[in-house]
Amino acid sequence: MEVIICSDEQAVGRIAADRIAKVLGRAKAPVLGVATGSTPLTTYSSLAALAAEGKADFTDLRAFALDEYIGLPADDERSYAATIRHTVTEQLGLDPANVHTPDGMADDLDAACAAYETAIQEADGVDVQILGIGANGHIGFNEPTSSLSSRTRVKTLAERTKADNARFFEEGEKVPSHCVTQGLGTIMDARNVVLLAIGANKADALAGAVEGPVSAMCPASVLQFHPHVLVIADDAAASKLT
Ligand code: F6R
Repeated sequence: MEVIICSDEQAVGRIAADRIAKVLGRAKAPVLGVATGSTPLTTYSSLAALAAEGKADFTDLRAFALDEYIGLPADDERSYAATIRHTVTEQLGLDPANVHTPDGMADDLDAACAAYETAIQEADGVDVQILGIGANGHIGFNEPTSSLSSRTRVKTLAERTKADNARFFEEGEKVPSHCVTQGLGTIMDARNVVLLAIGANKADALAGAVEGPVSAMCPASVLQFHPHVLVIADDAAASKLT
């Protein structure tokens, strides 16, 4: 793994965007794997800035999101489909038809998960997968004890994840308890991975991912088996790396 430590989240976003744009620029039919949450926001705005400056062109970029809550339709502002629409599709000027999110409203969720895997494969896989990391070491919504070779499937969110995500919901509103998420095996199929971590509450998880034993108890540690992982963290998130 290559690890870059930066002073703040703006720098994390700038460095990540530069590296991501380079990889996408070399791809014939570029495919970006996108994450929701707070962590990648400076990366998305930096990617948008590169496009505005004419240093990157995302006209034909296709994108696949990592995960979605079960029971929230795409027009619900708290859904990940809506989040990706605002932070990625609109900001980077992508064609909405090229941006995909797992379907958390499908009658047959298992079939929808299988179809999502097929769609990624038919796009010839992901060139760069952007990841945040949960305080418990999750990537996507692959919570501790997830199979290291898992594929897109339904998962139950850990209590800690629900508590962490409660900030996106009104007080007293229930955070969904289930989701559809790409599996760890799906994420590992991406040709390049950029793992971002910002803030002291990610320090233990990041240390576990980068330096800990590879274990389903820290799902992000599976990335140690991936040949092309770039970790970009701010000082606080990197504070427990040796
Ligand atoms: C988001 C996702 C999650 C987040 C993680 C960190 O699609 O799959 O793994 O990346 O929970 O969230 P933030 O960035 O909000 O701290």
